[in-house]
Amino acid sequence: MKRLKIISVVGARPQFIKAAPVCRALRQDHDEVLVHSGQHYDYGMSDVFFEQLGIPKPDFNLAVGSGSHARQTGEMMPMLEELFLEQDPDVVLVYGDTNTTLAGGLAAAKLGVPVAHVEAGLRSFNRAMPEEINRVVVDHLSDLLLCPTRASVANLAVEGISDGVHLVGDVMLDTARFFGDSVDPAPALEQFGVEAGQFYLATVHRAGNSDSPARLGAIVEAFAQLDRRVVWAVHPRTRKNLIDFGIMQTVESSDNILTVPPVSYIETVSLLRSAAGLLTDSGGMQKEAYFFGIPCVTLREETEWVETVELGWNVLVGANREAIRAAVANLHRPASRPAVYGDGHAADAILAALEARYGGRS
Ligand code: UD1
Repeated sequence: MKRLKIISVVGARPQFIKAAPVCRALRQDHDEVLVHSGQHYDYGMSDVFFEQLGIPKPDFNLAVGSGSHARQTGEMMPMLEELFLEQDPDVVLVYGDTNTTLAGGLAAAKLGVPVAHVEAGLRSFNRAMPEEINRVVVDHLSDLLLCPTRASVANLAVEGISDGVHLVGDVMLDTARFFGDSVDPAPALEQFGVEAGQFYLATVHRAGNSDSPARLGAIVEAFAQLDRRVVWAVHPRTRKNLIDFGIMQTVESSDNILTVPPVSYIETVSLLRSAAGLLTDSGGMQKEAYFFGIPCVTLREETEWVETVELGWNVLVGANREAIRAAVANLHRPASRPAVYGDGHAADAILAALEARYGGRS
């Protein structure tokens, strides 16, 4: 068997959750070089995930930090290019749809190094989202497209991509089953002073919401009027904008809203599994709600995770105050939750696809 040399590029919070099971699987028989772009750098946005999920310490940290899309992506690329040249990998593995994904994919493809994309084929069909641009570009540059769902395979087919496409299931489910199911929620509930079933969990970080005073204001108004308390884990970018837009006073004066700093994986799962529902604009958390059987209200007009909506576990309401309130009033748990995201062993399927394509096993 040939040992493959794989460079994995991560940088933002959801990528750490996705990389955890894949690193574990890859390192059994192959050499992985883990590169952290530094897109997320706060302890609570980065290190805590490595600690809790047992992700190996990155071999390289590019410490790129925050910035505009072009600056952030642009600054990563020459550093990644140099690293790829020096390390000479068989394949570069990128995850999801962030600027880190784009920089890793572009730098590798331009050097002729094969790109394998975990979470390929997702589409919101909204090009105003920076993530949509990242996904489309990286999918079209990728040699191996590791799709989480049937819908993502179909999206690629429509764009003429079929070679190298594998339906592997969702790696976030691997992490949920490996770590999430065994979490005892009691310490986190005590820490945040909430009782199971008596609150909604909320997260808001999409540029479309957090950069718009009107949308962020409407979301806050809705949260303040719900029938249960809202535990809101506030992303740093959203916190800054709540202050800059003058909305923070409304948040702080509402007894119904409890803001907390960004929460770790264990805290997130503890709160999510104990919540009456999730209110979010995160992609990953819509799925995590489904994995744990928690109904979700999505603060966007569209979703990449269409199965959650089709199966009745998720409803799209945008940032409309009345629509948010109506959806929350109507929250319910549908009778069935089919295994549309696979069986929790996506990392093994990813490993098999890499070995088959790049000759890992004879
Ligand atoms: C990024 C991804 C998004 C993903 C999200 C997960 C892009 C285009 N977006 O969005 O797809 O869903 O990560 O969280 O790549 N900040 C800190 N500390 C940190 C990181 C960020 O304070 O550790 C603040 C900075 O003010 C920064 C802002 O958050 O400017 C936005 O960070 P950035 O990584 O650009 O985008 P996210 O909104 O986190």
